[in-house]
Amino acid sequence: MTLASCKVRRDELFNKMADNSVALLKAAPIFHRNSDTEFPFRQDSHFYYLTAFNETEAIALLSKKAGKNTFILFCQEKDPLIERWTGKRVGQKDACDIYGADEAYPVSELDNKMPGFLANANAIYYLTGIDTHFDNQIFSWVERLRKKVRQGLNAPHQFIDLRQFIDEQRLIKSSDELKYMQKAASISAKAHSKAMSQCKIGMYEYQLEAVLLYEFYAQGSRSPAYPCIVATGNNACTLHYTQNNAVIKEGDLVLIDAGAEFEGYAADITRTFPANGKFTASQQAIYELVLATQEAAILQAKPGMTWDSMQNAILKVMVQGLVDLKILQGQVQTLIEEKAYLPFYMHNSGHWLGMDVHDVGEYKIAGIWRKLSSGMVFTIEPGIYISRENTTVDEKWRGIGVRIEDDIVITDSGCDILTKELVKTPQEIEKLMQKRASDV
Ligand code: GLY
Ligand code: MN
Ligand code: MN
Repeated sequence: MTLASCKVRRDELFNKMADNSVALLKAAPIFHRNSDTEFPFRQDSHFYYLTAFNETEAIALLSKKAGKNTFILFCQEKDPLIERWTGKRVGQKDACDIYGADEAYPVSELDNKMPGFLANANAIYYLTGIDTHFDNQIFSWVERLRKKVRQGLNAPHQFIDLRQFIDEQRLIKSSDELKYMQKAASISAKAHSKAMSQCKIGMYEYQLEAVLLYEFYAQGSRSPAYPCIVATGNNACTLHYTQNNAVIKEGDLVLIDAGAEFEGYAADITRTFPANGKFTASQQAIYELVLATQEAAILQAKPGMTWDSMQNAILKVMVQGLVDLKILQGQVQTLIEEKAYLPFYMHNSGHWLGMDVHDVGEYKIAGIWRKLSSGMVFTIEPGIYISRENTTVDEKWRGIGVRIEDDIVITDSGCDILTKELVKTPQEIEKLMQKRASDV
């Protein structure tokens, strides 16, 4: 994240704000894990997007008053004693000198100073309803101002959700953001490739997770973008399975859904491969069907197409394929209309991808699926999940769960696949895994 790009983003936001208004954003809290241990700190994405400031206990205030735009940062004070234990703090001087704040104050002065900054503004923009404490804090500052009306001060009377402005900004990625996303994707692709190459029957799922995490860190990512899913056999039919504590058995397919975070940006990749390196006929039939649905969806990924065109393409190919495999019976169009595929495919084609793995941005505008345009990044991730408990299908299909997920960026003329470095066809996967067998 460059500080210059944060300044550009703040200026864009200032342009969208009404005259005589302020915007407030809060840094992420630290979450307690157990005893006196905390979860690793991850900055709030909106806050980081606008400030690149990576500490907790901070409030950013963008003030647009009397034709003047001011960026004010409240942050923790320097304290050599505490910093000795928990690391360096930026402090107020560097908040201005490095992070570009026009003014910076200790966060301990927030309650004293904030009503003054809010006085006589008409509107406050903030991310409503995320943090009840912050909501209440804002109302308490406004309430203090209301009590001063007889002194000639006005309290803001409009409370506007900031999401509608920042989310649309975040939806279209700049060339810098795309570089980070490409790096996150490349790191993740290498990690998936290593996990496939190191998979052995008898391993625990979490031992493959260890391979992924090692590769993420070794290549410069400081965190996975979300908890890794390593699901063997029937576990792959649980969409967000993260226990990762089962033993990988002969004949299983292994589904890995894992992505690295790089400079605050996520990758999100799924691959499914045979634990022993060779697909069975039933596994390959389902795999090739999922792959065909994904290829059909990728053909729709170009400027001007609507978001739902990808899911529609997936459904058409998938339902036809399920009929061909005699997993579904009936007319394809009727089966689609009746949603007969739901026991096997119960999610959408994908989601926006960015600083958050399920990134911000509307999918419909005024009730109509939005059109794709250059700079949008999203996943395409069809899957077929045939639970072991599903007795309506032939036994040979049961316990097969396959998802294939890639990260796509819309360009001026079509799309790029950020995750294209990673093997995907059954032949490529088997080749990679055969190499593993001969190496062992
Ligand atoms: N990794 C979560 C998802 O694919 O949506
Ligand atoms: Mn995804
Ligand atoms: Mn995923």
